[in-house]
Amino acid sequence: MRHLLGTRELAYDDALRILDTALEFSDVANRTVPKLPTLRGVTMVNLFFEDSTRTRLSFEAAAKRLSADVMTFQVQGSSVSKGESLKDTAQTVEAMGADIIVMRHFASGAAHRLAQSGWVDAAIINAGDGTHEHPTQALLDAATLRSTFRGDPRGTNLEGLRVAIVGDIAHSRVARSNVFLLSSLGAHVTVVGPTELLPKGIEDWPVAAHHDLDAVIDEGPDALMMLRIQRERIRGEHQPASGDYVRNYSLTPARASRLPSDSIVMHPGPMNRGVEISSEVADSPRSVILQQVRHGVAIRMATLFDLWGGTS
Ligand code: NCD
Repeated sequence: MRHLLGTRELAYDDALRILDTALEFSDVANRTVPKLPTLRGVTMVNLFFEDSTRTRLSFEAAAKRLSADVMTFQVQGSSVSKGESLKDTAQTVEAMGADIIVMRHFASGAAHRLAQSGWVDAAIINAGDGTHEHPTQALLDAATLRSTFRGDPRGTNLEGLRVAIVGDIAHSRVARSNVFLLSSLGAHVTVVGPTELLPKGIEDWPVAAHHDLDAVIDEGPDALMMLRIQRERIRGEHQPASGDYVRNYSLTPARASRLPSDSIVMHPGPMNRGVEISSEVADSPRSVILQQVRHGVAIRMATLFDLWGGTS
């Protein structure tokens, strides 16, 4: 693989290989010295035009566990705020030695633009572009589902698993990336939310769309993935009223108690406790939220390794 830009164009075999490689890497964290020499001499740059806590830290942890050098370019206070273009910024970062650029950008399509422009030779990983895609998040979610529901998951896909993604589907790059990846791996994906938070053109997605969370819960899904309302991305459109949203879409203990006993609850973070998910559910045994974070590091190690040629 040359770049990782989205899951829509990610080949099935590439996805399975990254998931399998992540399993090989997942025990590195438990070693006395949690480091492999694999990417010694390789420089990864986190180029973040938007805030992030877990994604940036997770890429940093992944790169360090593979002995890569890490640089971080956070846009606040940089010359991007003085109008420097994406081209100049990326070329500057590459001139400082970047072999792999992990980029988060507020504009949908920014990572594709950079990869296709020929401005830089570095491998590009999309760490979230606007409302478009966030492929490593979907891969870590697939890894979490696979390790929860498949005994020894190597080589297996998610055939037949039923996953409901709940909330602000329209503005969520996490939802988009998950819909394409999970359905390509064989899962049945349902998206649930009020009309104004389901994207236009949802009929063309490989999903079932619903407005009634209670009805979806009664179907007994294997996993519920709760998303926050991305208020920072909703401009000039109808904002759902908080009271109505909580009443209809919050995962409360009462709703969670109607799920089958082995169903899991996921959330990519950051959570708004008391809005899309109650604290009691987020901290309950069926919540795999911290396992998602742990899988995230292994998935990012596997992605870096794959882009660097898959040889140690
Ligand atoms: C998400 C993101 O930034 O797209 N967070 C993440 O990467 N874990 C989701 C969000 O911001 O709600």
